[in-house]
Amino acid sequence: MSRKNKENETSSYQDTSYLEGLFDFIDHSPTCFHAVANMEEELQKAGYQQLSEKQIWQIKAGNKYYVNRNDSAIIAFSIPKKEQKGFHIVAAHSDSPCFKLKELPELSIEEHYLKWNVEKYGGMILSTWLDRPLSIAGRVVYKGHEGLLTKLVNINRNVAVIPNVAIHMNWDMNKGIEYNPQTDMPPLAGSIKEKGAYLSLLAKEAGVDAEEILGQDIFLYNRDKCGRIGLAGEYICGPRLDDLECVYAGLQALVKNEPANYINMLAVFDNEEVGSGTKQGADSSFLRDVLMRIRGGLQLTEEQYQCMLAESFLISADNAHAVHPNHPEKTDSVNKTYLNEGIVIKYHGSQRYATDAYSEAVMKDICKEAGVPYQVYANRSDIAGGSTLGNILMAQVSMNTVDIGLPQLAMHSALETAGAEDLDYLIRALSVFYNK
Ligand code: CO
Repeated sequence: MSRKNKENETSSYQDTSYLEGLFDFIDHSPTCFHAVANMEEELQKAGYQQLSEKQIWQIKAGNKYYVNRNDSAIIAFSIPKKEQKGFHIVAAHSDSPCFKLKELPELSIEEHYLKWNVEKYGGMILSTWLDRPLSIAGRVVYKGHEGLLTKLVNINRNVAVIPNVAIHMNWDMNKGIEYNPQTDMPPLAGSIKEKGAYLSLLAKEAGVDAEEILGQDIFLYNRDKCGRIGLAGEYICGPRLDDLECVYAGLQALVKNEPANYINMLAVFDNEEVGSGTKQGADSSFLRDVLMRIRGGLQLTEEQYQCMLAESFLISADNAHAVHPNHPEKTDSVNKTYLNEGIVIKYHGSQRYATDAYSEAVMKDICKEAGVPYQVYANRSDIAGGSTLGNILMAQVSMNTVDIGLPQLAMHSALETAGAEDLDYLIRALSVFYNK
């Protein structure tokens, strides 16, 4: 390859425009609550109207809507004016593994240190949370004039760190450590002089009095920002890529495309990392409830609605594992994926991924139409692998479903790595899906 061609090749990685939006979204979404609030802002700008589950819906063909549940899950939909053959749904999740602060979070150590009492949220790689600047964010519920109100909070500065034990105090450290979440993971939040500051810190951020706060969902988050990495900037590094990368791709595709003959939907659920079994998780009635209310609003008969479901298609988008550069033996010898080589279609013999011959064909056809590459993934037959949204959702509302994702490394680390080009592939493929 000539030098000039090589330069041209690397320059494609330097077009960062579509990545900047992702970086901005993730950097401003330290928790699932913030991710949903940021999505709502973008949906409103694109003409989507907010609905409340507590009110009667007056929905009309030709309009666009969104509804959230628990401020941490959201379903947006856009109804074509003339004909609604069925639903085209993209599903993803808003949560990522992290630490949740316990209700009484302050721990004092030897009358010198103040630590925060945390517990695990999801299956994270514990060691990756050590020795990096951390902060806290989430929501508080307080008593206002009109009853109980919710406010998002983000302390948004470096406030805590989980320090490693020095190598001189544990010479066996590099042989591998079993971390105990109760004793090894509480972060150092300051000197003992700050004892009692926690609630007033949240109150100040929320703009309320500390005594007014009656409830809190507060999480520890990694302060690292998203950015490019690699000699040619060919990779991206950042927290929460699983699954905010797919959430962002779904959102971009939804707002940039008008529905053709299907109702376009984006369904983002919370609590995927802890099994989805909550009122705002994929195993809840949320999607089914929204579909039933759309059915009511459009005055569809039961029979018409069932026909529409049979015509519908769901793309469950949750990140996938790329071959690890130091441990290629961890993946199947053939059904394996690489960064920047396209959308990953996931398969699982026991159907933990919902992909089947029909749904894989639909997905491959979409990728071909979009002109984007795809690759296939199956776990090694002797490694269990993770689970995702697709098959859980199908127990609630059944339709043809494919499980896909973008390839990434170090899933559930505090800092994950993915390809700089793959996001664009997914936005393009989902755009074709929403236009079909
Ligand atoms: Co995920």
